This record gives sequence, structure tokens and C-alpha cells, in this order.
Amino acid sequence: MRRLFRTKQLQSSVEFLRKPLAVQMTDVHCHCLANMDDGPVGMDSSIGICQALVADGINKVVASPHQLGRYENNTADDIRSAVNHLNKKLKELKIDLEVLPGADVRVDERLVQMLEDDLIMTVADRGKYILLELPHEAFVDISIIVNQLQDKGITSVITHPERHLTLATKPGLMDKWVENGSILQITAGSLLGDFGESAKKAGWFFLQNYENIIVAGDVHDIRRRSPRMREAFSEISLRIGQNKAIEFCASKPLEIITEV
Ligand SMILES: [Fe+2]
Repeated sequence: MRRLFRTKQLQSSVEFLRKPLAVQMTDVHCHCLANMDDGPVGMDSSIGICQALVADGINKVVASPHQLGRYENNTADDIRSAVNHLNKKLKELKIDLEVLPGADVRVDERLVQMLEDDLIMTVADRGKYILLELPHEAFVDISIIVNQLQDKGITSVITHPERHLTLATKPGLMDKWVENGSILQITAGSLLGDFGESAKKAGWFFLQNYENIIVAGDVHDIRRRSPRMREAFSEISLRIGQNKAIEFCASKPLEIITEV
């Protein structure tokens, strides 16, 4: 009986993937700019990612190359000009995707000063939200940075906590950040098992137990780290309802790039 139910679920999941989506999604975390980080090499690969995003049901994407950590040299101005260049190419090629500037910013004690110096990029360059990436290898309490940013009117979006070895099993460590309004960004591929069982389990746990959640692709290429939002949307719809899928994959991400 259980197997029959799962088979039906899979059939409807496959049917869903063939259908046009009822909503267009916004992806706030994507490594789609050429030659800036561990994302695409060359403009053709960058365009390939953009085409794959459109096919996946996305019409707005925040280009978020890494900043700080291993990528000290990427400045906010570099990102702005790379996004302008990519948008021009997309227009020429009639690819219907709007690219907005952003960054996947490694937490760093210099962050607030660097924001003031206009070196660090916020989501959609609006000064309202920032994607914060924690070091993978150890847990760091970022309460001070989250509070400093909040004082400046900037809300932290914690990228892929479900893939963090400590946070995946001890989410209570994030309570102070979440109570302070931080948003948890879960990776679409994590929900589908692309990053292993622990990330998958934690991802679904966050979706079902936390309020401030968005889902994003964290796409790096069109093979290993390709767009997976459509399939994640389908799985969320099946497991916890289409309204939640729309909230996590479309309406909340859109709010983040448009809030004034
Ligand atoms: Fe990323």
C-alpha cells in the first residue's frame, strides 16, 4: 500500500515536471556570473545556466558570486558591472530572465565596515537583505554580526544551514539569529537528496518547523549543481502543500528582492 502511494507520488511528480508552472519563481542565490568564483567559466557557460534557470521556471535570479573567504577580490562594483553585461547578453539572445546583483558573503568581522565602504553586495543591491555563508568546517556564533546588520536595517539570510554539519543536527544554535529575524535559505537540491541524507533530513525539518524560510538553487553549473527549483517545488507541494511551495520558492523570495 505504501509502495503504491509512493509510486503514485512519483507519477504525479513526473507529470508536474512536464507541466508549465502555475507561478514563476525567484531564485535569490545563484552562481551564474562568468569567471568570478567556482561558478561558470566563460560567457557561454553563464548563458547556459541562465537558459536552464528559465527552463526550470525562474524569471528573476540574484547573481550571488562568493565574496570574502577564498574570494577576497570580488567587489560590489565588479558584480554590478558583470550583471549589467550579462543582462545585455540575455536581451540580445531574447532569453527572458532578469538578473539582479547579489553575493554569497562569507561571514567576516570586517563585514559591516566593508558594507559601509560599498565593497560588499546586498541582495539585489537594495541594502535590505544579505546572504551570509558560514564557514563549513566549524560552528561560529554570528549573533554579533547579525545584530550589527539588523541595527543597519539589514536582515541576514543564512545560506544552506541544512548543509552545515553542526547546524544540521543542532538547529537550536541558530535560535538567537532566527529570533532576531534572520531567514534560513534551504537549498533546493538538499530537499531532493543531492547533498546526502543528513542535509535532506535537516532541510525538510527546517521547512516544517521554522517560519522564516526560503528555498534557493545555489546553482553553480548545469550538471552537478544545476537548477532544481522546479522539482523541489513539486516535492514541497506533495509533502506540505502547494501554498507552502509558492511561499518558499516564489512569494517570499520575490518579497526579498522588492521590499522597500
Ligand atoms: Fe552559494
